Amino acid sequence: GTVVLAYSGGLDTSCILVWLKEEGYDVIAYLANIGQDEDFEAAQKKAESLGAKKVFIEDLRVEFVEEFIWPSLQASAIYEDRYLLGTSVARPCIARRQVQIARQEGAQYVSHGATGKGNDQVRFELTCYALYPEVKIIAPWRIPEFYNRFKGRKDLMDYAEKHGIPVPVTPKAPWSMDANLMHISYESGILENPKSHAPSDLYLMTKNPEDSPSSPDVIELEFRKGVPVKVSHLSDGKSKDTPLEIFTYLNEIGGKHGVGRIDIVENRFIGMKSRGIYETPGGTILHHAHLDIEAFTMDREVRRIKQGLGIRFSELLYNGFWYSPECDFVRHCIDKSQESVEGKVQLSVFKGQVYILGRESPKSLYNEELVSMDVQGDYDPCDASGFIKINAVRLREHHRLQGDAASK
Ligand code: ARG
Ligand code: SIN
Repeated sequence: GTVVLAYSGGLDTSCILVWLKEEGYDVIAYLANIGQDEDFEAAQKKAESLGAKKVFIEDLRVEFVEEFIWPSLQASAIYEDRYLLGTSVARPCIARRQVQIARQEGAQYVSHGATGKGNDQVRFELTCYALYPEVKIIAPWRIPEFYNRFKGRKDLMDYAEKHGIPVPVTPKAPWSMDANLMHISYESGILENPKSHAPSDLYLMTKNPEDSPSSPDVIELEFRKGVPVKVSHLSDGKSKDTPLEIFTYLNEIGGKHGVGRIDIVENRFIGMKSRGIYETPGGTILHHAHLDIEAFTMDREVRRIKQGLGIRFSELLYNGFWYSPECDFVRHCIDKSQESVEGKVQLSVFKGQVYILGRESPKSLYNEELVSMDVQGDYDPCDASGFIKINAVRLREHHRLQGDAASK
């Protein structure tokens, strides 16, 4: 049979490619460009030299931003209060194209290099099953003949040497990384001890805030329907107005000022806790700016419901259920909530922080006259007495009972 392998260009998936061939499969190597720093041409040549029947290098950056990152931003997606889901959101994007290629090439199988202990296997495979129900999945890291043969990196290196797989010349970092346009994640290896601090040279996208510039960059972000349509620098006059350029520019600004670093322990879907370190510079700036323009333009009660849906959405995304009826439903509701999330937010990026400075919007629900301490507006303060008293009915009853109980 033919198998489409999600290939990264690294040691693991190179060995998997050759191993699949050994097992008798025709292998199509598929490498998605989602903004990671990679020599795609070299990876293509490498896959060909390893005997891939075909190699697909797919530039998915624009669809990654528009169809996956933007909906997550609209949802204010954040997992367990801190993680902006940079890896989670990339998986359905990568797997969607993988099954498109499988269908187009008449391949019955897909394969990936995710481990048997993580979230990524779940995300890849749920997406594949949802979009290509008849697909058969080969997950080598869950196949005993594979994982008993490759117990560590040494076994992979030996196998590579034996099979003419070019082995990496630079020594591997003592942790595992996953990089894309939105973030880089770091886990396992020396990071598995939750107490040990990350070395300062771990971070590749962001500067250490201790060494970042001593003056801020002040920018303006313009939103329509909850997504950014323009970013402008307020002193050098630079501006960007396509999704990919906006996101890349914000990564640059955020990276320069050390924005978006977190070090957390999180709950994997599989049931274990894991320690992860993330840097999400542009995504963090956008998250704060979006929260601000949303607060300015969205009805209070809609916002409350939307916030709950955002949490549900984040869990679905983390657990791999992007393509599910429930996620579809939640996304529709969130989309609806974003109709009037529109306007401009001015902010300063400085020393690892995003400081909101001001906002304006044609859809603002903020009524300066209504809220003012200096003018009456369309509001009668006498009405507040009744409002407060009615709300106090329940509290006074509660006290009456408590008081009775206390005096007994
Ligand atoms: N723990 C994060 C998540 O589940 C990051 C996973 C990183 N994946 C990787 N293949 N290194 O989204
Ligand atoms: C992996 O297991 O391949 C990486 C970690 C994860 O998916 O959670």
